[in-house]
Amino acid sequence: MRIVWALLAAGLGMAAVPASAADIAAGQARAEVCQACHGAQGVSENPAIPSLAGQRDKFLQWQLVFFRSGRRANEIMGPMAADLSDEDVRNLGAYFASLPAGKPPVPDVDPALRQAGQSLAEKHRCAACHTDNFGGNQAAPAIARQNRDYLVKALADYRSGARPSVGVAAMTEAASGLSDSDIAALAHFLAAYE
Ligand code: HEC
Ligand code: HEC
Repeated sequence: MRIVWALLAAGLGMAAVPASAADIAAGQARAEVCQACHGAQGVSENPAIPSLAGQRDKFLQWQLVFFRSGRRANEIMGPMAADLSDEDVRNLGAYFASLPAGKPPVPDVDPALRQAGQSLAEKHRCAACHTDNFGGNQAAPAIARQNRDYLVKALADYRSGARPSVGVAAMTEAASGLSDSDIAALAHFLAAYE
């Protein structure tokens, strides 16, 4: 079997090493240009810009592919992703996923708003996909301790359809019934998640 596979690979001009092996060091080198906005270690200090450190590898890769194709339209990230190769995307995903997750600045934690957000997360079963501690899984991103203003924008973008959701459009559906105050509460709860 192995010989057949090797012959087949050679015939197709493929390398013997699986193309999916990501190179974290190469990802780190490619990520230099990302630091200005996403932070030196992938932890963003800017509440409107998402942290990438410790995020799910597959999710990161998909988002970069979506920015590159314009499916996730964004005037900053579109040009940033335009010239990334598939290899860059794999390496960047592996690099950011390997970094320790950070904690965003949440200066004014409001216990009532946080409680309201927690109840809404339970009511809408956000944990069914994002897991019990909201740390994410495969293509579902970590949303705990993400920057608050960014979470507000992300949920509003799904609700308006500005950001298409993947596959069965899970997020379009999840966000469709949320009011502005629901979104504010959910974002507060998730950003301040302990
Ligand atoms: C000039 C600032 C800037 C630079 C430089 C930048 N980004 Fe971004 N990035 C953003 C902003 C702003 C967003 C949020 C877009 C939105 O609102 O949907 C974002 C979103 C993302 C996301 C989506 C994360 C999520 O949680 O959905 C990924 C992945 C990403 N950037 C990767 C990168 C990579 C990799 C680089 C370097 C090659 C990079 N960015 C460079 C500003 C920047
Ligand atoms: C059926 C599964 C499912 C449910 C339920 C769900 N999500 Fe998601 N969510 C996803 C997937 C998958 C993605 C990423 C892919 C995409 O864009 O569609 C995502 C993306 C997100 C993002 C974008 C994060 C980023 O870094 O860009 C946020 C924020 C989010 N979800 C919050 C929530 C909240 C809050 C709830 C509950 C109200 C919820 N989700 C319910 C599957 C789900």
